[in-house]
Amino acid sequence: MNLHSVGQFPSYRPRRLRQSPALRRMVAETHLHVSQLVLPFFVRAGRKLRHPIGAMPGVFQLSPDELVRDAVWAYEQGVPAVLLFGIPETKDARASGAYAANGIVQQAVRRLKKELPELLVITDVCLCEYMDHGHCGIVQRDKRGARILNDPSLKLLARAAASHVEAGADIVAPSDMMDGRVRAIREQLDRQGFIDTPILSYAAKFASAYYGPFREAAESAPQFGDRRSYQMDPANANEALREVALDIQEGADMVMVKPALAYLDILHRIKTQFGYPTAAYAVSAEYSMVKAAAAQGWIDERAVTLESLLAMRRAGADILITYAAADVARWLKEKPPIKG
Ligand code: PBG
Ligand code: ZN
Repeated sequence: MNLHSVGQFPSYRPRRLRQSPALRRMVAETHLHVSQLVLPFFVRAGRKLRHPIGAMPGVFQLSPDELVRDAVWAYEQGVPAVLLFGIPETKDARASGAYAANGIVQQAVRRLKKELPELLVITDVCLCEYMDHGHCGIVQRDKRGARILNDPSLKLLARAAASHVEAGADIVAPSDMMDGRVRAIREQLDRQGFIDTPILSYAAKFASAYYGPFREAAESAPQFGDRRSYQMDPANANEALREVALDIQEGADMVMVKPALAYLDILHRIKTQFGYPTAAYAVSAEYSMVKAAAAQGWIDERAVTLESLLAMRRAGADILITYAAADVARWLKEKPPIKG
């Protein structure tokens, strides 16, 4: 039998299985579970600091003490993992803050692992927050403009990743989109004896307008140009498969698609093709749009958020990175929202 032959079974009435909430749940093909959630955080130096992000209600730049508070709250809701971004006190042309032994992310990781040893701490590995020009790699300026240098950037990325693991990070997640960075990071970690630390690679990361609010949150907007010479063209899907194949060859243990909702086709193809643990990153503007419409009373925030995450699961995501993770964890403990 194939899907097109259902017409030959005139007694098939799909609505039979939609009669009650319990029956619908019994035949649901896809589930959201708290174990799938990852909550991103922005950390900066200071004490008792909670600096709100205008376009992301409920998201803050936090000092390490406040980060621990919010991570404890999320962990108590059941969120098993966090993803850390750092905002350094100073930026330069070598992204020194990215691999400083006492850099802000390194400090935050040590605090979190001390207070919550069971919490999975994932660190974003990139240079843009630490570069004075805001690009994800080393910049060379010449008369024809500026170029992002690939191979020289790899050493800095590998150093950054290793410094996070030295501080106690459980997983490193390179988001720079330089070619060869997964191999460079894997080799550096192995050399230092961190052979069991997984790499979650932002394998298919698109040059997206959906990152707008994040750049305010991470203070990482490029000072000139854009990221299209290293992040992917939103027009391309086959190329995304090649990016993932390369990252897996280089040693990625898990792969990511980013953004999420506008790229579900990519997510589906990657999960189908490779079968690796696959993460979907519901990025800043995905969150902002829901918050903005909900604040107007135009949509039901909880219903839209849960439906979007379920769609990512259906497309093939195992791991859901979302700024709404703590709310989602709380909602999942409540009774299902849709009445019989
Ligand atoms: C930096 C980075 C970005 C995001 C994650 N890591 C921004 C960018 O590439 O410009 C975006 C996350 C979001 O929008 O929520 N490499
Ligand atoms: Zn970057």
